[in-house]
Amino acid sequence: MSLMYGGLDNTAIAPSPPVLQHCRDEAGIPHYLNTHYWWAYVHPKGVKVFERGWLVNLILWGNYARLRDAALAELGDRLPGKSLQVACVYGDLTCHLSKRSAAGGGRLDVVDVLPVQLNNLRRKLPPDAPVRLLRMDSIDLRLPSGCYDRALVFFLLHEQPRHDRERTMREVFRVVKPGGKIVIVDYAMPRWWHPLRYLWPPLLRWLEPFALDLWRREMAYWLPAAASGLRKESFFGGLYQKVVVTR
Ligand SMILES: C[S@@+](CC[C@H](N)C(=O)[O-])C[C@H]1O[C@@H](n2cnc3c(N)ncnc32)[C@H](O)[C@@H]1O
Repeated sequence: MSLMYGGLDNTAIAPSPPVLQHCRDEAGIPHYLNTHYWWAYVHPKGVKVFERGWLVNLILWGNYARLRDAALAELGDRLPGKSLQVACVYGDLTCHLSKRSAAGGGRLDVVDVLPVQLNNLRRKLPPDAPVRLLRMDSIDLRLPSGCYDRALVFFLLHEQPRHDRERTMREVFRVVKPGGKIVIVDYAMPRWWHPLRYLWPPLLRWLEPFALDLWRREMAYWLPAAASGLRKESFFGGLYQKVVVTR
């Protein structure tokens, strides 16, 4: 397993355009992470607190395993070729992806903008895992176009402001091969009868200020026009969704 800060071919990287620098600090950390998610992802103590299976499961109202398994089932038991996971997640999702990549003779790349998250993930993976950990911003993937067979975006989009969310998905579409599968798992608007439809928004507005965007708009709205064959599956009364598209 290798850990590469800065990308595959760092020497050939052009500086980010000024628009990207605005909302990033001097270390390249997005403003929304430093402002709204420092306690969950940026602060090393946050990583220690949240890297607990039961806590992640609690935050997802007991649905972690179900959502993880839905994503894994969509990608397949064996993952030949190259797979991309956009952003680290707490729990054992990446360990499963890594095993499936090994079983298929493939390779997994995981990108994340926070070194502390990549280091945490490295500790969870066996030393011989066929996984590369790449420090990159999802809105500016320094990866060649069309180089992945599939990609997974697991609970990232609700954390991002609109502009970043759209750019992330444009980048994911760019780096996946035509015909490749893109799997997105995230929040959605629960059905009218779901108590969380009424109880959850005040807390979400406070803790995850961009998450309600995914309630207001269908996932298709955030995807590039080139997305085809969109398929959606709902979980837990609609509070969660898995969306699968073909590049
Ligand atoms: C995938 S999301 C949340 C996942 C889910 N709540 C969990 O951990 O179980 C959290 C990760 O996204 C990463 N992240 C957020 N914005 C990013 C960006 N622009 N580029 C790359 N990684 C990003 C954070 O650093 C963090 O590791």
